[in-house]
Amino acid sequence: MIDGHGRKIDYIRLSVTDRCNLRCTYCMAEDMTFLPRRDLLTFEEIEALARHLVGRGVRRIRLTGGEPLVRKGILDLVERLGRLLESGLDELTLTTNGTRLPETAQTLYASGVRRINVSLDTLDRERFAALTRRDEFDRVIEGIGAARAAGLAIRINAVAMRGVNDDELPNLLAWCGERGMDLALIEGMPLGEVAIDRHAEHLPLSEVRERMEERFSLVPSLHRTSGPARYYDVEETGTRLGLITPLSHNFCAGCNRIRIAATGTVYGCLGHDQKVELRDIIRAGGEAALDEALDLLLAGKPLRHDFDVARSEPAVVRHMSVTGG
Ligand code: 5AD
Ligand code: SF4
Repeated sequence: MIDGHGRKIDYIRLSVTDRCNLRCTYCMAEDMTFLPRRDLLTFEEIEALARHLVGRGVRRIRLTGGEPLVRKGILDLVERLGRLLESGLDELTLTTNGTRLPETAQTLYASGVRRINVSLDTLDRERFAALTRRDEFDRVIEGIGAARAAGLAIRINAVAMRGVNDDELPNLLAWCGERGMDLALIEGMPLGEVAIDRHAEHLPLSEVRERMEERFSLVPSLHRTSGPARYYDVEETGTRLGLITPLSHNFCAGCNRIRIAATGTVYGCLGHDQKVELRDIIRAGGEAALDEALDLLLAGKPLRHDFDVARSEPAVVRHMSVTGG
């Protein structure tokens, strides 16, 4: 699949639910309204869609949410999608908040998952509770332990926030390093209405990198995954630090992905409303109509997002949990 700007699209981020058991302040409002379950694609429909996309050249699928592991029966879906690893898919991964890993990590590995991203913005239990509005810190730590024990490679994702967790980011890097885990820092993006002041919490990662360099030797790395992170080798730990800078440095020229919401809506970009609706097409059956809709999406895929935290309105009204984080 090639988009209208000549970019090869071989990576799908697939949201399986917009629900989450946490309420991170930068991601969600306290009182979120979630989609009725009947609006979601069924596992059969997701599997058929994924198979079709692999047939069209998709090589990596990342399951996201919301929190993907809170969807009922999710391990059945992971097992089904894991079978695609034998027929063209190179990698099946997921992004999770970690709270459900204690009971799922082993099955994820058995289904063919080898790498996961776990979101963890702080190592302080009380800060975690304030930031996520839920007291689940211990479960996340337990979950990370379970995932390591199961043999999953882990990258920790942390949103860098001024005045919230900026003082502990070097400690977080050290903590990850001691456990052989990479750390990716992310600049908060203006997606959906939330209670916090995104502008006040905005923290350019160039600033964080300078702080990190007071304690660690960071060597720019050639390592790339399918995502937008730019990596540094951390000499002291032998692990990597990734920086994801949607605000301060635009990386859209290399974009290789589309995003599928749990409803079957496919978005060309996290920061735009351009989309096609696949659910009814899937339900009506027929590969030709599906290809036609996908081609329309690819042709119109936006060239770039243009996030600006200084604007008072979010770039798009939908929260990241809808599009697939
Ligand atoms: N900006 C940046 N990152 C976000 N995440 C959720 N909402 C936002 C936002 N508005 C993060 C989560 C998770 C990853 C998938 O995206 O913390 O680590
Ligand atoms: Fe849930 Fe992730 Fe959003 Fe936090 S950032 S509320 S864990 S979906």
